Amino acid sequence: MADSRRPPVRRKKADGRSVATPSAPPDGRKAAAPEAVNEPAALSNAVAVKPLRPELERRRRASLYRRRRLLGTPQGSEVVVDGRPMLSFCSNDYLGLAADARVVQALQQGADRWGCGAGAAHLVTGHTEAHHALEQALAKFTGRERALLFSSGYLANLAVLSTLTGRGDTVIEDRLDHASLIDGARLSGARLRRYPHNDLARAERLLREAKGERLLAVDGVFSMDGDLAPLPELARLCREQEAWLMVDDAHGLGVLGERGGGSLEYRRLDSRQVPVLMGTLGKALGTAGAFVAGSAELVETLIQQARTYIFTTAAPAALAEATLRSLELVEQESWRRERLWELVSSFRAGAAALGLPLADSPTPIQPLVAGSAQKALAWSRHLEEQGILVTPIRPPTVPEGTARLRITFTALHEDAHLERLLQALESLPR
Ligand SMILES: Cc1ncc(COP(=O)(O)O)c(C=O)c1O
Repeated sequence: MADSRRPPVRRKKADGRSVATPSAPPDGRKAAAPEAVNEPAALSNAVAVKPLRPELERRRRASLYRRRRLLGTPQGSEVVVDGRPMLSFCSNDYLGLAADARVVQALQQGADRWGCGAGAAHLVTGHTEAHHALEQALAKFTGRERALLFSSGYLANLAVLSTLTGRGDTVIEDRLDHASLIDGARLSGARLRRYPHNDLARAERLLREAKGERLLAVDGVFSMDGDLAPLPELARLCREQEAWLMVDDAHGLGVLGERGGGSLEYRRLDSRQVPVLMGTLGKALGTAGAFVAGSAELVETLIQQARTYIFTTAAPAALAEATLRSLELVEQESWRRERLWELVSSFRAGAAALGLPLADSPTPIQPLVAGSAQKALAWSRHLEEQGILVTPIRPPTVPEGTARLRITFTALHEDAHLERLLQALESLPR
């Protein structure tokens, strides 16, 4: 029941004076409604030093304005979005574990045992037996000495790059690496050099020219393109040049390899060839957070020095319990990966028959490049009208001129879902 004694919320007026407004209703869902419609008027410019509206308007005019949709159901192939039933083809829940009853039950039991919040950072009192057990399970799963949990992949990438490199060093990255790898390099103060996508000759040249400590960081599976990095060749180059190799396997883990061990299992690369592995838990594993796996020295170094590890509250222990369960399912239920491969090959065959310009991706990430942001937005709206959700991906997430529909599959998609997707794609205004 709402507490009528709750003090009113105070907010600032345009002139800086504060005024009382009724406190938010106890039902948070109702409070969220105004933002869902994304009216710029709702974005108050009350105390802004610089006017914010012109940039918002510019983005809207350039078809770059992003809006959040309101999901009314758990993740799945069939969802309710902004009150409408839709087929979803844009989640990273590749194995369909995000709402799996066994994972949810582990979360519930974890909450019964550990409560909700972790209460503190890992180095204070936030590191429970559940976190520790998950770290050990992840180390075993990835065949490395140790693993270290982070609250997100973004934070894990910042941690590795800013700890292993600094001023005077060089970070080398693929042009299509994830934003968090780029931001990590920037945060580190090292020089960032980027090579054209999958261009080994340029990567080698940059490695040879690089100064200081050298670290090459690359996505195992490129997040917006779905293609694979040439990891065996990069591993060879890095060994020859005595550089660190770090693989961000956010989209490979759980999906590639017979056991779901990801890009490194698929390519048969060990921890000597790839000393730093970052994996996320919020995609194929269906929960949230991330980890870095590698040598005991690497993990100890991160614990001692990584600011995004030290100065942040640990993720809830219940989440670690849920991830422990989903990790078991990833290994045991290989039918999920097999289903994904079936879906990907049927989709690619169907798209080829329709003459759709699909990018060359072997993974559940299947990009359909539109070119302009405007066209990608129009395509996404066209699909939406037919009850198919595929959000448009536009710059700066992808390079200028390569806006796209990033179609993704989950093991839960049925043949009839795929059929409906292909029918809707057939009628795209091209
Ligand atoms: C390649 C890649 N790395 C890192 C991340 C960040 O992971 P997280 O969502 O856990 O912050 C993502 C996606 O969000 C990603 O696609």
